[in-house]
Amino acid sequence: MPPSDLLFLGLTAAAALLGCHLRGRAARRRLQELLKEFAGHEGRVVITGAGTGIGKELAHLLSQHPSISVLLGCQHEIERQEGRTRVLPLELLDLDSVQRFAVEAHRFLREGKDGLRMLINNAGFKEKEITVRTKYGVSRTWQVNFLGPFLLTEILARLRETEGPSLPASVINVASGHESESSLDEALLDALAGERETTSHEYADSKRALLLWTSVRSQSLALKGNLFAHAVSPGKVNTRFGCEDIPWWLWVWSAPARMLMFRTVSEGALSIAAAGLRKHATSKFGQYFREEELSEDLVIWRMPEKRVSVQLVRWASQVTSLNARMGGRPLDIGGRSLSVTDLVNQSSGEDFLLLAGLP
Ligand SMILES: NC(=O)c1ccc[n+]([C@@H]2O[C@H](COP(=O)([O-])OP(=O)(O)OC[C@H]3O[C@@H](n4cnc5c(N)ncnc54)[C@H](OP(=O)(O)O)[C@@H]3O)[C@@H](O)[C@H]2O)c1
Repeated sequence: MPPSDLLFLGLTAAAALLGCHLRGRAARRRLQELLKEFAGHEGRVVITGAGTGIGKELAHLLSQHPSISVLLGCQHEIERQEGRTRVLPLELLDLDSVQRFAVEAHRFLREGKDGLRMLINNAGFKEKEITVRTKYGVSRTWQVNFLGPFLLTEILARLRETEGPSLPASVINVASGHESESSLDEALLDALAGERETTSHEYADSKRALLLWTSVRSQSLALKGNLFAHAVSPGKVNTRFGCEDIPWWLWVWSAPARMLMFRTVSEGALSIAAAGLRKHATSKFGQYFREEELSEDLVIWRMPEKRVSVQLVRWASQVTSLNARMGGRPLDIGGRSLSVTDLVNQSSGEDFLLLAGLP
């Protein structure tokens, strides 16, 4: 290669590195500004999937603020406490582990003074090919991206409702722009419920499911559990996510290009945290952000998909045994327990939609 080409390549790489450094630094600074404004006294944040990638960066940046404590749910970890950081094992493929984590998250968010309260459903997974199904009959992608966060949040909301007044908290569901490639509809949900093959877009479908669930449940979660659910797509972020999709050598060679084209982990972390560090984070619900921009009011914009959304929530409630886990009666779509009369009427009423535990 002629020296001039080498020089050109070297300068491009240096410019890419410098650009990343500056963008990352600006994002970290912006996040600290937001924390200064919204952390309050003894802010508490729960983050899933905090062992690597954006979750790890989020945990690091949030815990730098002196009044923030974090509870991290990490796969393959043992329980430990390091300063204001508490780590707990969380395996989203095991719904009992999710339930145990939800109880701990509830305690953590309940204690302390009246600062920021936030749950970030960050953990995500994308498998190249569906080789195994979990014991709940779905792919690992569906379970980690949707059923896990669904169960964690719904249990949290019910615990908060049962135990009475609690500080308002936001729930940030980490979605993806790939959601637009999803073909999630009632037929696909039937296939899922029947443990049949669905599509090759499992990742997109599971992320779309997060949005539909948020659209149809966020009002009830806010009213009953004082939990204000939102969603955010962090954009394309330079993490190891998706590395299984391409050969390892291409992954290594494409590192400079990814650095130039993708956002840094700090920018991804800022997008996610910013959705909960806003004036209206715990007064409005169901908002969907793309990077830092408000993109949709899910409750309104996903209204045409309400039927499939309700079917999705009903299916998820049954698969996760939500009602049995809470040891209570079946719930309606508003999160209320059903009376015996309700149950009888339900069998004839079309618009009476059970969340779980249909007899
Ligand atoms: N990177 C992007 O461009 C991009 C774009 C849009 C959306 N997102 C979303 O952003 C979130 C974070 O992704 P990332 O880029 O930071 O990817 P990542 O580096 O692969 O991080 C994913 C995290 O999820 C955890 N996780 C995976 N399976 C789990 C399980 N069964 N139980 C518990 N935790 C599990 C991983 O834990 P281990 O480290 O222990 O495996 C890891 O900490 C994901 O929800 C992803 O879908 C990312």
